[in-house]
Amino acid sequence: MKRASLLALVLAAWAVPADAATASRETFGSLPDGREVAAIVLTNQAGMKVRILAYGALVQELTVPGRSGPADVVLGYDGIEGYLAAPNYFGASVGRYANRIAGGRFELDGKAYQLARNDGPNALHGGVKGFDKRLWTVGDVSANAQQASVTLTYLSPDGEEGYPGTLQVSATYTLTESNDLKIDYRATTDKATIVNLTNHSYFNLAGANSGVSILESLLKIPAETFTPVDETLIPTGEFRSVSGTPFDFLTLRRIGDRIRDGRDAQLRFGRGYDHNWVVSRTVVAEPQVLAYLEDPASGRVMEVLSNQPGIQFYTGNFLDGTVTGKAGTIYRMGDALCLEPQIFPDTPNQPEFGSARLDPGKVYQNSIVYRFSVKPPSSGS
Ligand code: BGC
Repeated sequence: MKRASLLALVLAAWAVPADAATASRETFGSLPDGREVAAIVLTNQAGMKVRILAYGALVQELTVPGRSGPADVVLGYDGIEGYLAAPNYFGASVGRYANRIAGGRFELDGKAYQLARNDGPNALHGGVKGFDKRLWTVGDVSANAQQASVTLTYLSPDGEEGYPGTLQVSATYTLTESNDLKIDYRATTDKATIVNLTNHSYFNLAGANSGVSILESLLKIPAETFTPVDETLIPTGEFRSVSGTPFDFLTLRRIGDRIRDGRDAQLRFGRGYDHNWVVSRTVVAEPQVLAYLEDPASGRVMEVLSNQPGIQFYTGNFLDGTVTGKAGTIYRMGDALCLEPQIFPDTPNQPEFGSARLDPGKVYQNSIVYRFSVKPPSSGS
């Protein structure tokens, strides 16, 4: 090794304190057209590790401490081939519009737009080739004593998947020393458009490969209403009280307790939970708790915070054993759940739901925090 580069290495090692969070870049694979898929790995001193791919700005690994050691708590694939062959939105950043838009149609300033329809008659998660299937650009990567972070960006051209306006999107992932994984989604446009970005990680706090069902996890959602859906999972427009229904998670409940209650048409339509809970009616200034999730065996706890008004709680009902993920594991219903902070599904067609509109000069922002901790064995819930 040349003297100068040896000196640079020594200086770099000296500059970063041994107890700091770290951010490093690696190659995860390449796309069929030859473009490299970079991965950024963030770690902290508390034992957390997150791997984020430039493809889909997705979370490929999320290792979190538990009472008896660390475990990877998200579903995904070991190689890029899996993400290309059967994406399933594992860990992905979804957009331009997370969840469904009825008929893939909406109107803005009197003009009708037809989006790509990729879920029966409806548009889902941004269309045939949404942000989850795009190669994002890796921007700033940084680390210091308190946190490590990376920003990924994507420029969505005017008309992509039928959406108006050129949309500049960024996703900043930050891992802190206090075991927060933050995702800050931002977007700006050059023409009036609609936006709803979220993250689609499939969590199992017992471990993605543990064999423990998420039906055993305990969940709390501070929402007095949810938005019921029709057979195609489009909201009816109603805000329905959770009181006396399997949708009441105002107090901590085992997820499996009422998920098979076939008397409830909503559970039949969703094949389980696949609904939007209404925590507030509008976007709020500071991230608030939208959900609390606990795995009793490992003691892992995850709180989900965001400035968004709704949260989609989806119990992985469409995982049917046809997909083999990390470590050769077949994924089935009950293996993981999603908790997606969002504007309510189909807002552009639902006058009571507020607005998903973004105008030039404004900044769309979804600030998500996944806050991890380990509950001591003896304490109550
Ligand atoms: C939706 C589900 C959909 C899934 C796709 C969720 O956000 O609510 O209905 O099947 O994404 O992975």
